[in-house]
Amino acid sequence: MAESNETIIKMLTESYCMELETVANYLAHSVNLDGVRAEEIKKSLAADITEELTHAQTLGARIKQLGGLVPGSLSLKFSQKSMQPTDNTVDVVAVIQGVIAAEDAACSQYKKIIRATDGEDYVTQDLCIRLLAAEEEHLIQFKGFLKEYTN
Ligand SMILES: [Fe+2]
Ligand SMILES: [Fe+2]
Repeated sequence: MAESNETIIKMLTESYCMELETVANYLAHSVNLDGVRAEEIKKSLAADITEELTHAQTLGARIKQLGGLVPGSLSLKFSQKSMQPTDNTVDVVAVIQGVIAAEDAACSQYKKIIRATDGEDYVTQDLCIRLLAAEEEHLIQFKGFLKEYTN
């Protein structure tokens, strides 16, 4: 059975929160990390901030179109435990693993929405397929980084 608009709005809002949390954590790590080995990762994270923010904007626009309300800061729900900065600012591997976990969670959430909208809300489905493609690209990129950094 097709999910109601309300359920779809709730799922899109979850993704919206995840994207904004990713922005906050990529921003933090892109500044915090130290050392030669961190330079490329910092650059990559800094570039991703803009892209993840665009994802949030896209989700926000769809939430609005479906009759929902985009949440403000006090209503945002954050839970990316794997992405929290620590005092060990040269631990690049921990950050890469955190990014992989976050991107993986984003992919799972988009797949959930793609399934829930199937045969019903094609516009939201198409939007989430495109976002899934972008997150899979990030996921593969950081899995590649991990290979090199744990070699
Ligand atoms: Fe994203
Ligand atoms: Fe991403």
